Amino acid sequence: MIKPFKAGITGTGSMLPDKKLTNFQLESIVETSDEWIVKRTGIRERRIIDDSMPLAELAAGASNRAIADAGIAADDIDLIIATTITPDYLSPSLACQVQKLIGAGKAAAFDMNAACTGFIYALQISRQFIENGTYKNILIVSAEALSRIVDFTDRRTCVLFGDGAGAVVLGRVDDGTGISSAILGACGEDGSVLTIPCFYATEEDLALRNEGKKQVIWMDGSEVFTFASKIMSESTKNVLDDSGISINDIKYIFPHQANMRILQNAAKRLDVPMDKVYTNLEYTGNISSASVPVCLDEAAKKGLLKKGDKLILVAFGGGLTYGAALLTWSK
Ligand code: COA
Repeated sequence: MIKPFKAGITGTGSMLPDKKLTNFQLESIVETSDEWIVKRTGIRERRIIDDSMPLAELAAGASNRAIADAGIAADDIDLIIATTITPDYLSPSLACQVQKLIGAGKAAAFDMNAACTGFIYALQISRQFIENGTYKNILIVSAEALSRIVDFTDRRTCVLFGDGAGAVVLGRVDDGTGISSAILGACGEDGSVLTIPCFYATEEDLALRNEGKKQVIWMDGSEVFTFASKIMSESTKNVLDDSGISINDIKYIFPHQANMRILQNAAKRLDVPMDKVYTNLEYTGNISSASVPVCLDEAAKKGLLKKGDKLILVAFGGGLTYGAALLTWSK
């Protein structure tokens, strides 16, 4: 099918909360150590949103930066997709709250949950609307306040997560650039290895939680680790095969930032050096769906990305979900 337009990223933005929570501070909260956390995860610190701050404010901050970077006005946005597992409200959605805060009065708006893979899912959904000409500018904002759903008595999870927001504007780009391939997937049958109940939880699930706490993250870390190491490399290979190009043609891989050891395992399976794998988890921890767009914005602002660079974006997460996209930088 001939698609009239190419879809690509025309602007990026991000915002992290000011407050840091270091590994050393965590030592006084749970029985852990900086040494253990660094060795097993690569994380040194994460950012934590103030109790008084709505996530929508952080999301709007990242969005305004992405819109300015794209050189458009909020009024030019046709659709807002917010990805989050920690919205301030289920209704109004985070996307509607962002719409109000940034003044994007002409946009449709909805939230989407594919956990940590949310940004890749949103990219693939948005791409369709741009390619077929339905919309010109779509704001994807991925924002998470995971500190609000972390159990700070569970050392196996509380050291891993942080808060932050990343946003991109997806628009029409030059031929030969933009998104050329993307794959999405899910393994719902394995969903019980990472859970965050909302209004209901099974007895089995509640029994796994400290003091039966319901609205917190519970995870079987080693099961997720095994899934993640395998699926990151497989998804990357699939998207490369789909496009008929080699890993050697790729300038950078932007992976979901969960654990440095997962990234090292995936890099080894793909036979790529770690200097092609963009990482920031040392200072952010795992910020779920916000990880990839925050990394992209950082890299763009550091001047690491040039027009024509081929990039892989790849993520995995609760659900279980996974996805990858091949993107040729357009700016
Ligand atoms: N500080 C100190 N010790 C800790 C600890 C912490 N924060 N967390 C766990 N431990 C202990 C465990 O209790 C266990 O002790 P034991 O042997 O006495 O029982 C020991 O360290 C080893 O635990 P284990 O779970 O085997 O460690 P690991 O090397 O697998 O690392 C994770 C744990 C969670 C860091 C790792 O499994 C992981 O990153 N998994 C993937 C998580 C992920 O990506 N989640 C997000 C999905 S989007």
